[in-house]
Amino acid sequence: MGLYLSIFKSKLFRFFGKSLKVKESWEEMPSQFQDMTSFLNWFDAAKSIDESLTNAQIDWVGRFKQGDCFQSVPKKNALEIGFGGGRLLSQSARDFDHVYGIDIHHNFEMSKLFLDTQGIKNVTLLHRDQIDLVPSGSIDFVYSFIVFQHFDSIAEVDFYLNQIDRVLSTDGVAQIYFGKNKNEGVKVTTEKDFILRDCSLFINPLAMRERVGARFNVLAYSDILPKKLNGYFGESVQAMILFKKQVHR
Ligand SMILES: C[S@@+](CC[C@H](N)C(=O)[O-])C[C@H]1O[C@@H](n2cnc3c(N)ncnc32)[C@H](O)[C@@H]1O
Repeated sequence: MGLYLSIFKSKLFRFFGKSLKVKESWEEMPSQFQDMTSFLNWFDAAKSIDESLTNAQIDWVGRFKQGDCFQSVPKKNALEIGFGGGRLLSQSARDFDHVYGIDIHHNFEMSKLFLDTQGIKNVTLLHRDQIDLVPSGSIDFVYSFIVFQHFDSIAEVDFYLNQIDRVLSTDGVAQIYFGKNKNEGVKVTTEKDFILRDCSLFINPLAMRERVGARFNVLAYSDILPKKLNGYFGESVQAMILFKKQVHR
């Protein structure tokens, strides 16, 4: 089934009061795409492989590489939470000796094929439940873009904050983009209201800073970001937070 047909079906589901599970849709949908363009399109809405690669370079450079701290971060290991098709891995793998990718979808073969065609060999793809295989204290840069907004609970944010605390190296930093709630606190979309691929978790940026700041040193944050970096498309639904481990004396 094509992507747009699937989204239409999910809208019909909602119209008839049926529910759609957020996590299951991210796990299962990617397995139905046979060609690379449709596969990549599911994750980043690009209409061709070239567009996906161009957007990947724009996002990697503009959202991460030009950011505070990036230049001074050691470049041994990085970790991407929610690598999707692998477009950002294809960029980060050129800046780090090795990159781990974590995701929950069931079509890693297609992501591997995409990375292969880009000549990328220095990556390890792991399912979320295998994250323990990433050695503690080994990661210099943890990053995530358009992923936390797709979680189905705040517990998933805490799961990753625990893991970031475990894997970050002493000089390492984490840069996480998340869906922002303009109201107070956290808002989660119910299964009944969820439409395929839409955002499902919205966190007030101040609440996120408090959550992260309780255990990490917050280095920078940005609550208002452009939706795209190549032209004016309005404000992004995401906010960003940059942090590192607290130093215990
Ligand atoms: C919109 S795509 C973005 C992919 C990639 N970050 C990019 O910029 O192209 C969202 C990704 O988040 C992943 N995802 C959703 N929930 C997740 C979770 N709990 N843990 C890890 N990845 C998750 C999805 O499988 C999907 O690959």
